[in-house]
Amino acid sequence: MVIWDDLFKTGVEEMDAQHKEIFRRLEKLRDQKDTARIPSLVEYFGKYLLMHLDEEQKLHQTTGYPKWGMHKSYHRYYAAQFETLKKKILKGGELAQAGKLIDKFIDEWFVQHIIIHDMEFAYFYKYGADEAGITPAYVNKAADNIAAEAAAKTREEQLEEALENRPNEIQRKTARFSNLK
Ligand SMILES: [Fe+2]
Ligand SMILES: [Fe+2]
Repeated sequence: MVIWDDLFKTGVEEMDAQHKEIFRRLEKLRDQKDTARIPSLVEYFGKYLLMHLDEEQKLHQTTGYPKWGMHKSYHRYYAAQFETLKKKILKGGELAQAGKLIDKFIDEWFVQHIIIHDMEFAYFYKYGADEAGITPAYVNKAADNIAAEAAAKTREEQLEEALENRPNEIQRKTARFSNLK
């Protein structure tokens, strides 16, 4: 059974408040004996968990956190895991096991995620990239990735433009393919 511990505090107030609330909702779920109330408590828990991941990602964006992309992919992975677990509980008839299953899920990743990845962000938030051990090379690479994403969008737009402006060429190519059939 996993419970809140002050050792999980990151020092970023809004994050700590949300982490604590996740543990509070987990406790409610664990303590519920009436299985008829489990589905709404699973939703109550899940909605807050996803909201928290979202809020954290917003904070990464507004503070220019260089590792936002990596952190977001961890969040995305665990959100997907939770969805699978939720289905198993609600549709697979595991209502009586819900507290235990979600407890195990949180114990296996959430605590680790807080003490490694959220804590790393908290260091960046409080003391900057240097003290968080994020090297200038990493900061530059993250900026490059953002630029590459923007450039990829431009390439898509260029292709669309080509399709609009050179329909004859596209038609010739299509005809060539249909001759092959
Ligand atoms: Fe978090
Ligand atoms: Fe996180």
